Amino acid sequence: MQIRIDEKWQMGDVDGAIIGIGQNFNLSNVPDRLSEVLRQLKEKELFQGKIDESYALTWMNDSEWVELILIGLGDAESFTRNKFRAEIGDAFRALKKKKIKTLGIEIGAIKGIYDETKAISRILAETLIMSDYTFDDYKSDRKLYELKSVLLSGLSFDQDALDEGEILGKSNVFARSLTNMPANALTPTKLAEMASEYGQTCGFDVEIKELHDIKALKMEAFLSVSKGSSEPPKLIVMRYNGNEKSSKRLGLVGKGLTYDSGGLSIKPTPSMVNMKDDMGGASAVIGAMGAIAQMGIKSNVTAVVAACENMISGHSYKPGDIISSMGGKSIFIGNTDAEGRLTLVDAVTYIQNYESIDMVLDIATLTGAAIHCLGTDACAILSNDDTFYSNVENAFKKADENQWRLPIFDEYKALIKHEQADLTNSAGSPGTITAGMFIEAFVKDIPWVHIDIAGTAFKDKQEGIFSKGGTGAGVRPLYFLAKKLSK
Ligand code: BES
Ligand code: ZN
Ligand code: ZN
Repeated sequence: MQIRIDEKWQMGDVDGAIIGIGQNFNLSNVPDRLSEVLRQLKEKELFQGKIDESYALTWMNDSEWVELILIGLGDAESFTRNKFRAEIGDAFRALKKKKIKTLGIEIGAIKGIYDETKAISRILAETLIMSDYTFDDYKSDRKLYELKSVLLSGLSFDQDALDEGEILGKSNVFARSLTNMPANALTPTKLAEMASEYGQTCGFDVEIKELHDIKALKMEAFLSVSKGSSEPPKLIVMRYNGNEKSSKRLGLVGKGLTYDSGGLSIKPTPSMVNMKDDMGGASAVIGAMGAIAQMGIKSNVTAVVAACENMISGHSYKPGDIISSMGGKSIFIGNTDAEGRLTLVDAVTYIQNYESIDMVLDIATLTGAAIHCLGTDACAILSNDDTFYSNVENAFKKADENQWRLPIFDEYKALIKHEQADLTNSAGSPGTITAGMFIEAFVKDIPWVHIDIAGTAFKDKQEGIFSKGGTGAGVRPLYFLAKKLSK
């Protein structure tokens, strides 16, 4: 799909069109006849241009049909960027169902409602790419039809921002496609291969550490989780050097459980079905590295994924075990399903000991409690550093992804301790906080942010720009974080 600015597209040039209409019904670049149609729609209260409204009609242009969707842009008060995304996304999907080949988008009416032209340019490109994706790789009757081109008019679009949006959209889609791959296809080995190929395509280095390396590094907690699986674990290390002049380096760690059966503390089947998605954190850091490298962001970033499966066999680690960790702390295993934090603490120790990073952010589908707490539209954040958190908060705002910081009260500190070991992996309620604090226990004296995306990493149904399945949550915020740190 090619997206380009074309101020002069006419109804006769396209077979589908999306036209933004504000509540004030100010229009530019639409045929006169359409103004009359709009007047009637408004009079009959069929379409008023409100932000959640849309109206589909088939437009007869000379002798050709054009599938037309009017989307409401509302007014300055009701407009939000995510509602705009969802409207464009819904209209785009509806038009794709009609197999249109060339789409015209006219959004001049957004002037006076939302005037950030750069942001609109980025969001529009990003939204088109993100709405274009569905996970149908395994359907033998999947449609090979492709929408060829999108023509944009109505604003003095910013080409750089359009390019940035396209890269962000594609990185998000790449992350989603990783998350959506079933666990029989996306093993730790395959994830490592795909990260390596992606690094080559986008311009970051990837080093894969094998089982013997992981053993030599004494990543005992990571190895304990992986023990029950016949698939070998992989430690994926991705490095991007965007600023030689800076000695600062951002460290990212993504949870990479390519499957989480719960281990011997086995999950019931309904909870297990989506556990191929338990590498949403890995998808986020890999996708973000792609965007950072492709945009040539001037900062240095290292991302690490300790990829493995949590499975059941005679080799599995067991509830009641006391294991060791790369950071040297002993851990009581109260529940083998609290495996993510075990892989994460070794990855966090590794990145601090070997990758000369100055701050570390981990992102993980870590706790069901995050869903109970914030639902599926916001992720939970914990941090030991207000400045680092504030940078992350701003990056989420820029990406229009919701987040909420949870507290680390002194009273909680006793909860992660254990009478027979230094720590327990299943401290219980408040589950999202104790899981994060478990990771914090392995953070040396550097700024740290922990992001729990258990609720936001995948969707149970199609919603706006998101198809059912992986969402690529975190890709855009992590990109904006690296961009901010480059300044
Ligand atoms: N991968 C799960 C968390 C999860 C749940 C992600 C639902 C996405 C959707 C994690 O490994 C897990 O099982 N956590 C347990 C921890 C508990 C045993 C302390 C949980 O949240 O129940
Ligand atoms: Zn688990
Ligand atoms: Zn898990």
